[in-house]
Amino acid sequence: MKKDKFDEIMSAIKMTDSIPSLPEVIYKINSLMEDDTVSVNYIGNLMTKDMSLSAKILKIVNSPFYGFPQRIYNLNLALVLLGSNTLKSIIITSSVFDLMKDIMKGLWEHSLFCGLTAKYIAKQINKNKQLIDEDLVFSAGLLHDIGKLIIAIQFKDDFDSIIKLAEEKKQIYSEAEKKVLDVSHAEVGYYLTKSWNYPASIYIPIRFHHDFMMLYKNENITKNYNVKSIADNKNKDKPYFSSNYVIETAIVNLSDILTKSLGIGFSGSIYVDEIKNEIMEILSIDLDFLKKIIEEIYYFKDELTVFN
Ligand SMILES: [Fe+2]
Ligand SMILES: [Fe+2]
Repeated sequence: MKKDKFDEIMSAIKMTDSIPSLPEVIYKINSLMEDDTVSVNYIGNLMTKDMSLSAKILKIVNSPFYGFPQRIYNLNLALVLLGSNTLKSIIITSSVFDLMKDIMKGLWEHSLFCGLTAKYIAKQINKNKQLIDEDLVFSAGLLHDIGKLIIAIQFKDDFDSIIKLAEEKKQIYSEAEKKVLDVSHAEVGYYLTKSWNYPASIYIPIRFHHDFMMLYKNENITKNYNVKSIADNKNKDKPYFSSNYVIETAIVNLSDILTKSLGIGFSGSIYVDEIKNEIMEILSIDLDFLKKIIEEIYYFKDELTVFN
């Protein structure tokens, strides 16, 4: 696939309703995303039409990643506890991914675990000092590979070539993708989530989840993405975002690698990138921390493998 496909992909993003048989719920996402004050009740009404989505929400809120002391059976309470940003992300991801079961088995599971792991890592880091918005990091992790869906639907032949090439050359998906496409799933995901009016704390980690070093080394790079970086925000009432969202991006990158390493779900290739020292440094974590996280996620794995 060559350059002219870039425009095609971009127009596919602008017309997400061109994705075949998207459920009714997803048609409402655009207006949903534009309204910051959208009520939990409104989302609740949307969800009562979709029982499998409601079951997923309850499963997620009851997962050990959230650690609520009592089991939650009441959907309305679950909605309040999760908050609207997280809910929107779950609705989008699960609605779209449900359609993808046959095209890419395991991507929903990969994405969900990446989101939950990201949230979990943020929570552990926050134990020392409250820094990272855990819900936003969860959404970034959940949506990080959403660009693959657009590519898989609109350009199925290219998508199949990437999967095949990754397997033949024993490469990670994004390496094989570079050889087939002129646009990456990370870029597609960035444009998509930006067009849904998600904040930069979500779309920047999505854009750079395979290009961490590019973000890390280049302080000014987010200027190209029309992002105003809110570094070192001392006002406790406002969420903290690291400079260039480099911490949030590091967490998504690490969660992606851990999820793949543990063989949870499938995201296009069984091969895994290595964890960069810079990621460990910027998150101020060591091997013991990683070991602990891996043990805990592995333990949680069985609690959540119910979605397909
Ligand atoms: Fe990815
Ligand atoms: Fe991924």
